[in-house]
Amino acid sequence: MKGVILAGGSGSRLHPLTKVTNKHLLPVYDRPMIHYPLMTLINAGIDDIMIVTGGNSAGDFLRLLGNGREFGLKHLNYSYQEGEGGIAEALSLAEHFADDGPVCVVLGDNIIEKNIRAAADDYRRQGEGAKIILKKVDDPQRFGVPVFEGGSILRIEEKPDVAASEYAVTGIYFYDPSVFGVIRTLVPSARGELEITDVNNHFIEQGTLTWSELDGWWTDAGTFASLLRASNLVAETGANNV
Ligand code: G1P
Repeated sequence: MKGVILAGGSGSRLHPLTKVTNKHLLPVYDRPMIHYPLMTLINAGIDDIMIVTGGNSAGDFLRLLGNGREFGLKHLNYSYQEGEGGIAEALSLAEHFADDGPVCVVLGDNIIEKNIRAAADDYRRQGEGAKIILKKVDDPQRFGVPVFEGGSILRIEEKPDVAASEYAVTGIYFYDPSVFGVIRTLVPSARGELEITDVNNHFIEQGTLTWSELDGWWTDAGTFASLLRASNLVAETGANNV
């Protein structure tokens, strides 16, 4: 399984911090943000990785990470997203890289305390369809929120006014290569982007989406509050512990 880190976007919720640089290069405690999703993939045994970036300072990723030698990698792949087409559009840029195989996708501002090894192993056994990772949070309405019936997910609602469950859909996803065909059928949402939630709802309708619950803390880092929270959590416990 290959790994894709989505690290584009304008980071508008972090202006003026992101006016001249990319959100994923900002510090989270003692490291640039992009280090954390990279470790998440590597700790799950995924070492063939593409970083999709865009916007400001795209070239700085190459200067910062090079071929990934600091992380024990032989090589890193990069792609450039023009404009603000959303998470699903960014993922579509990895189609050639995926080469008809499965991918683990991590949003570049998602940071975890522990690891996703069990989920990755489960998905390797699952072999097709999709898998998402959920986490109980205090403010689910900020995220994609699963609506449950019994133990299964009926649908995911993106940033609902009233959350139907206490869970957030984290930005860590597993897909088979049919995901790229799914993305081609999407239409832009109200915020003008191709939404990853629409991709996941497609796999739910197909009956091929599974989920697991993440162990340890999870945070995004795309707002002032969550960026500070991320730094504090990393300082307290460290991140990407195996
Ligand atoms: C995105 C997804 C959302 C998910 C979140 C996780 O939101 O759209 O479903 O819960 O990432 O970080 P965004 O941060 O792009 O608003």
